[in-house]
Amino acid sequence: MDTNVRFRNAHADANGAAGAGRFTHALNIEDLRQLAKRRLPRIVFDYIDGGAEFELTLRENSRAFDDVTFRPRNAVAIPVCDLRTTVLGAELELPVILAPVGSTRLFYPRGEIVAARAAAQAGTAYALSTLSGCRLEEVKAASSGPLWYQLYLVGGRDVAAEAINRAQNEGFSALVVTIDTPVSGFRERDFRNGIKSLLGRNILKTLPHLGQFIMKPRWLAGFLRDGGLMKFANVVVPGEGPMSYADVSVALEKAVITWDDLRWIREEWKGPLVVKGVLTGDDARRAADEGARAVVVSNHGGRQLDGVPATLQVLPEVVEAVNGQVEVLLDGGIRRGSDIAKAICLGARAVLIGRAYAYGLAAAGQAGVSRSLEILKDDLIRTLKLLGCASVAELGRSYVGVVPRQYSLASQNDPINIVQER
Ligand code: FNR
Repeated sequence: MDTNVRFRNAHADANGAAGAGRFTHALNIEDLRQLAKRRLPRIVFDYIDGGAEFELTLRENSRAFDDVTFRPRNAVAIPVCDLRTTVLGAELELPVILAPVGSTRLFYPRGEIVAARAAAQAGTAYALSTLSGCRLEEVKAASSGPLWYQLYLVGGRDVAAEAINRAQNEGFSALVVTIDTPVSGFRERDFRNGIKSLLGRNILKTLPHLGQFIMKPRWLAGFLRDGGLMKFANVVVPGEGPMSYADVSVALEKAVITWDDLRWIREEWKGPLVVKGVLTGDDARRAADEGARAVVVSNHGGRQLDGVPATLQVLPEVVEAVNGQVEVLLDGGIRRGSDIAKAICLGARAVLIGRAYAYGLAAAGQAGVSRSLEILKDDLIRTLKLLGCASVAELGRSYVGVVPRQYSLASQNDPINIVQER
């Protein structure tokens, strides 16, 4: 069955998603981004789309993929491509995991549940953010796929211990500890769109910002049906219950995760630990020494420290530093299947996607996330066939040709190094 027909049939949704006809034109992730922009109030769209300060790192993450070119093996027939990979011992149907993304319940009703379902349907893993609106038990009940829980220490160790226990009891298979958020990055779009006033207690100050919601009645209807402004269902403060939305940025600032905390977390969590937010070989080695089973080369999608390099650029340094001791994953800027192939060629075992699925979710709920994954999967199959490579497992350095000087690389005998030495 052709892709568009399948998607059209899958998509029939009462929650304010755009009509199915329009989705047949969602050929790439940018198309889904435009659909998300159309459905969401500006403040919600910009929360997904934006980055910190000048958004230099946000742009660099995607642009860096342009620096890497392919070296195809032509005149090779590849009737079937094998996209499978193994991450932390679990076999995934494709090397793409849904990254932890906070507040998805604002993008679409019961956002975490529908995203987790779409991930399971595609045969891959979903990482649930600490800053999610659905209870982790509900997400587990809705999904048959592998689930990871992402941890911030908001609310302190006791609150975190409770969430870790709950995730453990529910069978979440990995704990992702994000280490790049000692404070929230300065995302100027959020402030210009009135986030402070909207979360404050002064009704008068909210008035200038309310128009953006009224302009998006389909989103607004879904938001109200879903209970209005979400609470953080998995950050349960003793005596108070789930943390309110307004309290979280202050709580985050008190919740810096240090290597000491990591040791404590390792004692609480019995399963595999993933350290997310690694940008240097030193931090990657440190994470491995502290017992991580995997690291995610990540700059939080350019939302934290603006001016750090694109993740693709530092990937080879991290791969070299850990020397196979831990699995290396990457996120940041993935918008095409060819981006996934390039990251794997440079040493990533799999990638995580944030915005690429968030746009789909915001555009059309579960069907939109499925469409995001389908776009990336079809892209990846096509890229492998054009490369003359039968499987993700066979991708490697020999399939990428030109890498500019600033990429630090491991092997002296590698063709890429020759380019670097010129
Ligand atoms: C994020 N990210 C994130 N990471 C994390 O560890 N916990 C979180 O709660 C969030 N929340 C969040 C919200 C939104 C709207 C976005 C876009 C991102 C970062 C995310 O896990 C991932 O690192 C980036 O999204 C990867 O970059 P791309 O794929 O969005 O370019």
